[in-house]
Amino acid sequence: MVRIRSRLAALAALVLLSACQQPALPPAPEPPPFDLGFDMKMLMSHVIEAAAEVVWDSAGEIVYAEGVQDLAPTDEEGWHHVEAAGAMIVEAGNLLLLPGRDPGKADWKQFASGLSAMGHKVMHAAKAKDKDALFQAGADLYSMCVACHQVYALNLPVKVDIQENTAPDNAE
Ligand code: HEC
Repeated sequence: MVRIRSRLAALAALVLLSACQQPALPPAPEPPPFDLGFDMKMLMSHVIEAAAEVVWDSAGEIVYAEGVQDLAPTDEEGWHHVEAAGAMIVEAGNLLLLPGRDPGKADWKQFASGLSAMGHKVMHAAKAKDKDALFQAGADLYSMCVACHQVYALNLPVKVDIQENTAPDNAE
């Protein structure tokens, strides 16, 4: 009996020892202190749409009875403003990929990266002060909004404030 007990004790000690020798699991890394206080609606209306509107308001023309108003920037500052809006759209794509915002689906990642790509397109056109390219970039940007909304915001009354002549008819 004594013997068995000491064996058991030895075994127990061995088990304990091997347990101790297991490499300790590294502590889970602290998530960066992202401020995710804005919900998707807030992010859309106050960040993404706000930046996109700068682009759309600077592309195309408005036809009045008295003549045509070209919306393209006319000075360095104006083009810079559009370029900055493009940069915000590039970064907005990243904001959609933050943990807590990304629903973890492959197409969401594609739409978010697509948004960033459109932001680059806007920046490129603004840097070149190319109003035709800016118009095209604005239309492509709009298609990217719609593409994601068609999957993830189906019942959305997409009322983005966009000049009629800068986007397809399904703006509403
Ligand atoms: C990766 C996907 C995705 C992309 C890209 C995207 N959106 Fe959205 N958007 C959403 C989702 C999801 C909602 C619905 C949020 C809700 O109702 O909770 C939404 C809602 C909105 C809303 C409604 C906000 C409200 O107050 O109800 C607006 C406006 C909007 N998006 C504008 C845009 C514009 C403009 C673009 C392009 C420049 C864009 N979105 C690109 C996913 C996207």
